[in-house]
Amino acid sequence: MTEAWKEKRIFLVGGPGGVGKTTIAAALGTQLALQGYRTVVLTVDPAKRLAQALGFENFTNDLQPVNLKGIKEPKLFASMLDTQRYFDKVISRFANSETQRDKILNNRLYRIMVESLGGSHEYAAMERLLEFTKDNSFDKIVVDTPPSQNALDLLNAPQKLADFMDNSVLRWFQSSNTPFSLFRQGTKMAMKLLEKLFGSDFFRALAQVMDDLEGMHTGFRDRNLEVIQLLKSKATGFFLVSYPSEVRFNESSDFSRVLKEKGIPLAGVILNRLEKKFPKELTKTSDLSEESREQIQKILDYRYSLATQQQYWLSRFETSIGKTPLKCLEKRSEEIHDLETLSQIGEILLS
Ligand SMILES: Nc1ncnc2c1ncn2[C@@H]1O[C@H](COP(=O)(O)OP(=O)(O)OP(=O)(O)O)[C@@H](O)[C@H]1O
Ligand SMILES: [Mg+2]
Repeated sequence: MTEAWKEKRIFLVGGPGGVGKTTIAAALGTQLALQGYRTVVLTVDPAKRLAQALGFENFTNDLQPVNLKGIKEPKLFASMLDTQRYFDKVISRFANSETQRDKILNNRLYRIMVESLGGSHEYAAMERLLEFTKDNSFDKIVVDTPPSQNALDLLNAPQKLADFMDNSVLRWFQSSNTPFSLFRQGTKMAMKLLEKLFGSDFFRALAQVMDDLEGMHTGFRDRNLEVIQLLKSKATGFFLVSYPSEVRFNESSDFSRVLKEKGIPLAGVILNRLEKKFPKELTKTSDLSEESREQIQKILDYRYSLATQQQYWLSRFETSIGKTPLKCLEKRSEEIHDLETLSQIGEILLS
């Protein structure tokens, strides 16, 4: 990998759902730690076996040291994001008084809002990242991000939340010509359903949360500015993970465009799960039946055509990203979960 990657302190790994972000974040973290950097990987929802490898099985602390072979002093730390917990922390920080804090934290509608408010996971990730950046004991911080359809989900989360906290939201709910009020007057059925779900004091509770949140939006706005500044800083690298196909190419183009509009440069693109090069035809082997030969040839045809399509989309990626560094990772035959494989992948990425 280019020297520029090595200089980064914060590695933000983003991209569409299921492309391999969590695996790649863990791989980068493992390799950085093996190179001697004290590294923390902030991860979201790792697959079960990967979580085990990172020591989340007996998870007691939100910062978990990961033992690496041959390294005595812990260099790798894993941290799993708990959205609800971080929101509670954020509320505690911004609340104007203990009474305000407790009122919000004890309101069950607040819990539901955290769960359902678009971008709350992304916001929590950014919030936790800010905390880690202020901890000078970490040389490198690798951030795995939740699956997002586009970069906007991720980058607009702090802004969205600041907007939400703005008192105008309360006005929107209260004003007479919003869909909400129509809904309030008209659809009694839906109303009954909501009451069933949230209890009869739903609307009173909603107004209460809004009242309680009053005055906190300045805190969220300041935080939003801090996050944007951090993302734009030279110390941060945004790495887009993707896959060479038409759908992923289009998604990734949107992603890069949004980043550009926000003034956040793309530090690198990682294309994951590339097909290994296969021969187009089966070499003559006498001990195979005709039927087996045909079946194997079918698989080869499929793999060959997939590899050809991937090569096409790979070249489209190359053209579109210009000078941005690009790394390709082969598709492995097994799920990636052990530290050995992770470090190998990390080595490829950082070489
Ligand atoms: N190069 C690869 N070869 C084979 N399997 C892979 C490869 N990269 C990732 N995987 C597997 O694909 C699955 C999904 O990967 P991962 O969880 O890292 O994706 P993700 O982008 O984080 O998903 P999500 O968007 O849901 O968070 C995992 O089981 C992982 O082991
Ligand atoms: Mg993931």
